[in-house]
Amino acid sequence: MLTLGILGSGSGSNMQAILDAITSGTLQAKIGIVLSDNPDAFILKRAEENGIPHGVIDCAGHKTKFSDLVQAQTAGMLKQAGVDLVCLAGFMRLVKAPLLDAFPSKILNIHPSLLPAFPGVAAWAQAVAAKVKETGVTVHVVDSGMDTGPVILQEKLEILPDETADALHKRLQVIEHRIYPLAISQYANSLNL
Ligand code: GRF
Repeated sequence: MLTLGILGSGSGSNMQAILDAITSGTLQAKIGIVLSDNPDAFILKRAEENGIPHGVIDCAGHKTKFSDLVQAQTAGMLKQAGVDLVCLAGFMRLVKAPLLDAFPSKILNIHPSLLPAFPGVAAWAQAVAAKVKETGVTVHVVDSGMDTGPVILQEKLEILPDETADALHKRLQVIEHRIYPLAISQYANSLNL
């Protein structure tokens, strides 16, 4: 059985979508562990309510730093939980060598833009500010860059006239929740996981 490890910093709606896809049978997998760098993140509450093992990545109060030591500890927790594929779901720190080497080409991320356009935070607001006509959602394999790495699935979305960043983000999240479980399934199958 494909075992997923999910890393998130926020509400965990993508984690919920992955769980729902597992429950409905469209994604054949289990979530082995959910980890967050934010002890108060709702993603941990969701894990708890669903009886999924979960834990905190202790970054010792640093806002963005994700030290080699902590990355190695994170890899250890994921391995201990039997994780085959790591899914970043709103995880706000840059993954580097210790974690990448522990899961080579086995870490995915979802990003609310058509990468390589608008990497980084609040990609929906970046798209509105840039006055582009369309944006979208990308699922990609994680490398050491920020929102770089091979794209495995993208879906476009037209930006409506005068659409606010918040409204656009909500519409992008509907796409995220639909395509992330699909991309995970396709990618895991392609690797025979
Ligand atoms: C999503 O918009 C995701 O694309 C971005 O962060 C947000 C996470 O939302 N990387 P959630 O925690 O899954 O609700």
